[in-house]
Amino acid sequence: MKISFLALAATAIAYASAAPVEKRAASNNVVVGYWVPWGGVPVASLDMTKYTHINYGFGVTAKRNAQPTDIFFDRYYDGNNMRALVARGNQHGVPILMSIGGWTGSQTLSTVAASADLRKTFINNAMVFVRNNTLPDYATTPDGWNMHGLDIDWEYPGRSGAACNTVSPQDSANYLILLKELRAQLDLEFPNDRKLLTAAVRVQPFDGADGKPLGDVSAFAQYFDWIAIMAYDIMGGWSANTGPNAPFRNGPAGLADQYSFVQSIDAWTSAKFPANKLVMGTAFYGRSVITTVDMNAQNPVSMYVNKTSVVPKGGPSDSNEINFFCNEGSVYSGLWKWKELRGTVLTTPTTPAAGWTRYWDETTQTPWLFRAADKTFISYDDIQSLTIKVNYAKSKGVKGVMFWDMTYDYNNELVNVLQNIHCTSNCPTVPVPSTTTAVVTTTTAPVTTKPPISTPPTSICNGVAPWNSATAYATTGTKVTYNGRLYTNSWWTQGETPGASAYGAWKDGGAC
Ligand SMILES: *[C@@H]1O[C@H](CO)[C@@H](O)[C@H](O)[C@H]1NC(C)=O
Ligand SMILES: *[C@@H]1O[C@H](CO)[C@@H](O)[C@H](O)[C@H]1NC(C)=O
Repeated sequence: MKISFLALAATAIAYASAAPVEKRAASNNVVVGYWVPWGGVPVASLDMTKYTHINYGFGVTAKRNAQPTDIFFDRYYDGNNMRALVARGNQHGVPILMSIGGWTGSQTLSTVAASADLRKTFINNAMVFVRNNTLPDYATTPDGWNMHGLDIDWEYPGRSGAACNTVSPQDSANYLILLKELRAQLDLEFPNDRKLLTAAVRVQPFDGADGKPLGDVSAFAQYFDWIAIMAYDIMGGWSANTGPNAPFRNGPAGLADQYSFVQSIDAWTSAKFPANKLVMGTAFYGRSVITTVDMNAQNPVSMYVNKTSVVPKGGPSDSNEINFFCNEGSVYSGLWKWKELRGTVLTTPTTPAAGWTRYWDETTQTPWLFRAADKTFISYDDIQSLTIKVNYAKSKGVKGVMFWDMTYDYNNELVNVLQNIHCTSNCPTVPVPSTTTAVVTTTTAPVTTKPPISTPPTSICNGVAPWNSATAYATTGTKVTYNGRLYTNSWWTQGETPGASAYGAWKDGGAC
């Protein structure tokens, strides 16, 4: 996440007494939203009937800290917002969880999880978010935020995420120990008030020591109330060609990364994670790239075409500011929030503005937009695609749905669709025809005001596995990360360190 923070370490103090039991939302299915302070949507304006749980993003770990166990948050925004959110949640029976990690905030989680001493300090720091305050000068010295649980957003155990992260083959094994100790501490301090422990996870199970997804992750389920699968950011500016941000089903092999909403449920349940503890993540945004061809002129039309390597500025709030915690370069994410699409590109949920054409991809069950004037392609989700996803999630008996994020919606258009997860009879079916075309007319120039801080988890290394000296890389074109850079092999190779020779198998694709 591209966030600028005024850093403040959460400091721990001795815990005084157990908090009383609170009334909670009595919903079997959950609708979990992430709320972020920089999204420009005040806590007071949230419609609390639309969410069963809210994750506050984020508590951040960063290498630039004095201690890897410190959990930072932006006090300038957050003190008041966090208290307001907890108060609002209490009023409406909506538990508020602190989300720790995120794209840029996962830097030291590998280091922390590997050490018994660091785990202990980290857990004590994390407990600050769920403990209630005990000091009178709460405003200046908060020592407890009275939240209802912790959400761990480690991106990712055993796999490179942001360039600054530590990563180890032992991450997943260590994560399990960290979770066991965290759950034990929550239960010890709150014997009468069960605090929630959840996580955001990739579309594949946690990676094992061999760098491949584990075949059995059932042990993790005993510590989590649920895990939310981030079934989005599948293809975007980092991909070889255009493709879906959040496909329902996998697109064609060779053109599309083989990940999707359906695939991710299969992957986690095949690895023995119970379906009733899976929460399916959805994206309230699209991603844009610039193509090299006029997609309107194709016959037949395909959503997979070549693109340029430069990611364009997305919606009005897209920013290329360098990340405060981890310099991943000055790049745009190409991200369009739903409310920005609805303000500029779509005049109704399915009617494109002048200059744009809307298409529907049958395979991935997602809409996409194209503007011929500057060859802008946007893959996104809308009422139609989300209805399909929610109905399918329900048919698989999952716990619920999650979305990123609560500040991206437009008049609750998308979060209203997620309410279908609670529906038991006469549930909504897909609300619009599956194919919509529009006439290409004149170009509408995008708004280009100076953007505020935005949140794109974008890096060319996003989702790419770290190089492993023991792995035989047989398929040419395989991507790996090494020392914070992206490499692609030109021929079969094993045990050859990327970057060691300019004439080797590994071609340098630039810094992550
Ligand atoms: C938390 O502390 C405040 C202030 O001391 C108190 O009013 C409130 O009831 C406490 N809440 C819980 C859940 O303990
Ligand atoms: C991209 O361009 C190359 C070279 O013209 C072509 O072989 C390839 O099929 C194109 N890829 C896509 C996805 O259109």
